[in-house]
Amino acid sequence: MSATTDHVQDHKIIPRNIDFELDEDVTYDWHSDCPGISNMWNGLSLLFPEGELFFVKSAQNYLSIVKDPVFKKELKGFMTQEMIHTREHVVYNEMLKRHNIDTDRVNNILKWWAVTGHKYLPKSIQLAITVSLEHWTATLAQAVLDHPQILEDAHPKMRAVWNWHAIEETEHKAVCFDLLKEAVPNPVAFYLIANSTHIIAAPIFLLSAHAVYLGLMARTGNLTNGKAHWNMLKFNYGRKHGLLRRAIGHWFGFMKPGFHPWDHDNRHHIKAWDDAAAGLNEIPEHIVAAE
Ligand SMILES: [Fe+2]
Ligand SMILES: [Fe+2]
Repeated sequence: MSATTDHVQDHKIIPRNIDFELDEDVTYDWHSDCPGISNMWNGLSLLFPEGELFFVKSAQNYLSIVKDPVFKKELKGFMTQEMIHTREHVVYNEMLKRHNIDTDRVNNILKWWAVTGHKYLPKSIQLAITVSLEHWTATLAQAVLDHPQILEDAHPKMRAVWNWHAIEETEHKAVCFDLLKEAVPNPVAFYLIANSTHIIAAPIFLLSAHAVYLGLMARTGNLTNGKAHWNMLKFNYGRKHGLLRRAIGHWFGFMKPGFHPWDHDNRHHIKAWDDAAAGLNEIPEHIVAAE
């Protein structure tokens, strides 16, 4: 039995293959009529295609050590989900390109980091980076799913994209963690590798997210738009939404000895999505309902 099924029973990872049709009706400024809040999300989207490809490759390195067929299936489910996320975020980023945003620059920088990381870092560290960043995505997903007000003022199509991504990040949140445990079976070595990487990865992630945000604000002519920056800060750290504030709160939980991503069982969000959707590859109607 895999480590994940030790923690949660009957857990399956099911890719939901959805085309979100981000056409001309969606612009880069899609959240709260505020380029600051929108570009904060857009910046995350720019990080995803190369980032998620890195996650998949770092897990692929260890595919051969997994003997348990249930866990192997979970691993393949994780990889398929991430590849579909990459596909949809490429479409999302193409939408940004139509608004004169240079997405290639960020992509090329990330590609260079990914290639260099794959070439020079030990495979265990590559996977530990993925585990840490998967914890970030899972905690951001948790904030989004627990607090629907975070996306209530978003364009319905974008609300759907981010909710879908949050659902699947929740569903596969333990896969790479469990894989790293198999790759580094000594618990002390596992703890040291996972946590030293987690501490280093956090400021890199936060700095990258904010740097890409500033680049987007400059590109869209909003660098001196004080109101937009203020709204973004309120959105991330304020009382009502507090997206990053909430995620950072969960970030520390990772370092507790014996931590496992399924210590917090929030599968009710996945069930709610699937129950409300007309089919596996459909978006629940209430998610896309116009505001
Ligand atoms: Fe993803
Ligand atoms: Fe993920």
